[in-house]
Amino acid sequence: MVHHRERERWATRIGLILAMAGNAVGLGNFLRFPVQAAENGGGAFMIPYIIAFLIIGIPLMWIEWAIGRYGGAHGHGTTPAIFHLLWKNPISKVIGVFGLWIPLVVIIYYIYIESWTLGFAIKFLLGLVPSIPADGADPNTYLKPFENFLVSYIGSGEEFIKPSGYAYLIFLITVVINILILSRGVSRGIEAFAKVAMPTLFILAVVLVVRVFTLETENGSALQGLNFLWKPDLSKLTDPGVWIAASGQIFFTLSLGFGAIITYASYIKKNQDITLSGLTASSLNETAEVVLGGSLAIPAAVAFFGVANAVAIAQSGAFNLGFISLPAIFANMPAGTFLGFLWFFLLFFAGLTSSLALMQPLIAFFEDEFGLSRKTSVYITAGIVFFSAHLVIFLNKSLDEMDFWAGTIGVVFFGLLEMVIFLWIFGGEKAWREINRGGIIQVPRFYYYVMRYITPIFLTVLLVVWAKEYIPKVMSETLWTVWVTRFYLIGLFLFLTLLVFIADRKKLKEASG
Ligand code: PFF
Repeated sequence: MVHHRERERWATRIGLILAMAGNAVGLGNFLRFPVQAAENGGGAFMIPYIIAFLIIGIPLMWIEWAIGRYGGAHGHGTTPAIFHLLWKNPISKVIGVFGLWIPLVVIIYYIYIESWTLGFAIKFLLGLVPSIPADGADPNTYLKPFENFLVSYIGSGEEFIKPSGYAYLIFLITVVINILILSRGVSRGIEAFAKVAMPTLFILAVVLVVRVFTLETENGSALQGLNFLWKPDLSKLTDPGVWIAASGQIFFTLSLGFGAIITYASYIKKNQDITLSGLTASSLNETAEVVLGGSLAIPAAVAFFGVANAVAIAQSGAFNLGFISLPAIFANMPAGTFLGFLWFFLLFFAGLTSSLALMQPLIAFFEDEFGLSRKTSVYITAGIVFFSAHLVIFLNKSLDEMDFWAGTIGVVFFGLLEMVIFLWIFGGEKAWREINRGGIIQVPRFYYYVMRYITPIFLTVLLVVWAKEYIPKVMSETLWTVWVTRFYLIGLFLFLTLLVFIADRKKLKEASG
């Protein structure tokens, strides 16, 4: 018997947009963006960032929505099957495996970081946080107690990491929370939660931004932080590193090149608009990123410690602005631990709506291609994630390695392949019609050329420059934990490829039997 189960659909248009915005708005907006911006020179970063949004973000968003809606209309929500619809060549299925592998690898570390935000939120709510030295101390002594606080939470070590028992417990709880929402399904679970979480998140962020902008310290004010970010600086535009960082941030923050937008889009009704909805969801993400995300960690750090120190904090570790500097600053204010709670709770909601999106591709794969029930698919997926996360929790540098291969390089590579398969192999005009079909607005024709030529060329150049810089570094790595992670990632890819192959065999048998 061939399964022809009705696939789920988003219940409402506003629900779809909030779920998509929830997918995109995540830890990337509030933690990753400030670090990238500060490290790459503030105003020097924002020019490539805006250009990347226009020539990578927007076109790829439309492409992923169109690919997903097309797949959903044919009963498929993940790229191994959808790419095969677009390109009748067996290799398309193997390329499609990246659309399962990338979100799987990213969720393995993303959900662990998400759990820290919950763990910190609870500690701040209960007031179980360090006290800080008197005002006016230099940043190092000022930040020290919170640095120790973070280290005692996640642990440290050259090879093995020993996290606190509390961190492990909260991680378990975070996985369970994800399971509970996901097992309710797309519209009753993900969509319903996004309708509550997204407005909450925006309100929390606005409250915190207002608080940061009413800061006055002897070192300056938050406005100087905004100035650092928004004063155009043309001097670094010739540095390819800044372009790579800005483009990478656009991919990460908009969830592009992961396969996750495609899966969400597969639950859109067959003739429903994607042009305006896609643009709306992208704009919501950019507002959350540059307006809200850009007005918290950096301006607060600049007001307290000055531009140079703020940049140094960002450079000293990916989590230091968000987990050390900002909470330390809050802790020094009236009702400071409560502000810290609001900050981590905001991060938790942002992370949660994104982790749901990162899990959904593999869940959809089990449902669509194996005919498994939603609950079973959720449990299997969560089981794989939970098991794999132990690498990240206990092995030093495993997290960075996964972030590099899947969340940084992988997405650009996969985004390029999506464009080539859709606009060149499936066909330029066909793809263009598919994007605009049912659209409330029509995409300006100019974007046809962007999608077909400009963006693919730009991404190819990016990958080449990257490869030149990184391949020698990557190969000379000596830390064993990194190599264990690499082999594990290859193993995951082979495992997923095998599943795709088994699903095919199963369908063939059912069709003939
Ligand atoms: N866009 C999310 C963020 O900025 O945190 C990360 C992400 C979520 C990427 C979901 C991909 C995804 F499917």
